[in-house]
Amino acid sequence: MNKIFVCNIDELEEGEALKVDCGVNGIDALAVFNSQGNFFAMNDRCSHGNASMSEGYLEDDGTVECPLHAARFCLKSGKAMCMPATDPIQTFPVVIEDDALYVDMA
Ligand code: FES
Repeated sequence: MNKIFVCNIDELEEGEALKVDCGVNGIDALAVFNSQGNFFAMNDRCSHGNASMSEGYLEDDGTVECPLHAARFCLKSGKAMCMPATDPIQTFPVVIEDDALYVDMA
């Protein structure tokens, strides 16, 4: 397993996001979210353009809105839920070990 350390679990509060350097599988950075106490990770780069999803807006329906053109993506699947984006964003499992958060790049 190729794990990227994110932070300690109590450093990512509910409704917050973190950008984490990655450098694995051609992915420069990851966006890691705490949505209603659940953790999610995706490629930080929007599938539509050059926007950082960690600067996006978490919605109560389990999506994140891109800060640039307001496309929304499912946190779990990465699916584009509305225009202008049509392509998904790759998502990754989040692993918790000893109160630390990791993203599993497999
Ligand atoms: Fe994200 Fe356009 S860059 S919707």
